[in-house]
Amino acid sequence: MLSQHENELLTRTGADTAMGRLARRYWLPALLSEELAEPDGAPVRVKLMGEPLVAFRATDGSVGLVDEFCPHRGASLVLARNEENSLRCIYHGWRIGCDGTLLDVPTERPESTFKDKLHQTAYPTREAGGMIWTYMGPPDTCPPFPAFAWNTLPATHVYAIKVLQESNFVQGLGGGVAPIHVQFLHRQLDGSGLKQRNVALGGPLDMPPDLYNLDTPYGFISGAIRGHADSARQYVRITPFMMPWWTIVPFPVPEVGTGRGTQAHAWVPLDDEHCWTYYIYFDPYAPIDRGTIDDIFGWSSLLGPGYVKRANAANLYQQDRALMRTTNYSGIANVVLQDLAINETQGPIYNRAKEHLGTSDVSVITLRRRMLQALRAFEDGHEPMGLGPDTDYAAVRAVALAMPADIPWHAAEGEFDRQLEERFAQQAVASTPGS
Ligand code: FES
Ligand SMILES: [Fe+2]
Repeated sequence: MLSQHENELLTRTGADTAMGRLARRYWLPALLSEELAEPDGAPVRVKLMGEPLVAFRATDGSVGLVDEFCPHRGASLVLARNEENSLRCIYHGWRIGCDGTLLDVPTERPESTFKDKLHQTAYPTREAGGMIWTYMGPPDTCPPFPAFAWNTLPATHVYAIKVLQESNFVQGLGGGVAPIHVQFLHRQLDGSGLKQRNVALGGPLDMPPDLYNLDTPYGFISGAIRGHADSARQYVRITPFMMPWWTIVPFPVPEVGTGRGTQAHAWVPLDDEHCWTYYIYFDPYAPIDRGTIDDIFGWSSLLGPGYVKRANAANLYQQDRALMRTTNYSGIANVVLQDLAINETQGPIYNRAKEHLGTSDVSVITLRRRMLQALRAFEDGHEPMGLGPDTDYAAVRAVALAMPADIPWHAAEGEFDRQLEERFAQQAVASTPGS
């Protein structure tokens, strides 16, 4: 349970709020690269933390992200002509560059210096991992671009997709860090899907885990430990949380890559009652197939135009009571939709003053404690959590594996690497001619 004040602190992200100031100090995904497919193509409306913006791919392929409304008389630049490395407003022809410079104000005399006094709000952009990223904080505190594993891989090894979630971002995070819901919300009754996948890895998800959390410089790692059929072994899942809205979860899908890839998730606020939920599938060791991922997660049936899901609160998320009796616990067929639906039913901004947390909610409690710590330290003048030299984002990983029960859970990453090396070595031997 949180006080009303703490709840407000966590969930509000406008430019004049504590969380808004803190979140603006990190690079964040603004949209998918595929949304701006071509130079000089149609601009795209982008809203981030309550700020209305427009993104466009310029003539030279770079990406501009500027205030949506023309500095002249406020027409939307989503209708603008995209030409000559700039947006040209279709109302009176004012032309704005990627960096917000007014390049041409044709309604004034050629010798006028009027345009030199004007500047459109513009944010820097970078592209990596199939996403266009931006930094919305003060220019003099811009951190290095984050070296998340998926930002440094070839395009063939990463697949990023997103969906609109009609709730505050902290609700998404609360689900992302807390594994206990998996054995209920995501339970399969017919031995298919998730259940089968995780049994294949040695750990049934319908068994309650022991939960442990460990603070890290960027947030914390959460460990869920379940028993194994072989009592000398344990099944360990490690899920990191990284400020301000990231989780990474293991992705044990044998059909994709090495079968031991990962999903990163971000819940990026459009405003305080909506967020973009990003799913970033990646495998550091092998290419992954988008078509297979789409089939497994049902992305094409989930999404309508504009990355808005077809099932929603108005149609009760297309819950199917017959399916509920025979196939899965929730009656909601799509595993992504199960999470979205349940977070949205908590309300646009969930009031945590009303809840009753129990022992299984330890990860949610840790999440809020770390976020509030980060906020208070930042407001006291410290650097944002996770942006100091003690964080190596390239090394932050999620793993799921069966491993000897006498190895500590937080050493699972090393054990994961050892098992992977062993497997690669076996494959190399098997593929050696004459072996
Ligand atoms: S409103 Fe855009 S040029 Fe006049
Ligand atoms: Fe979930």
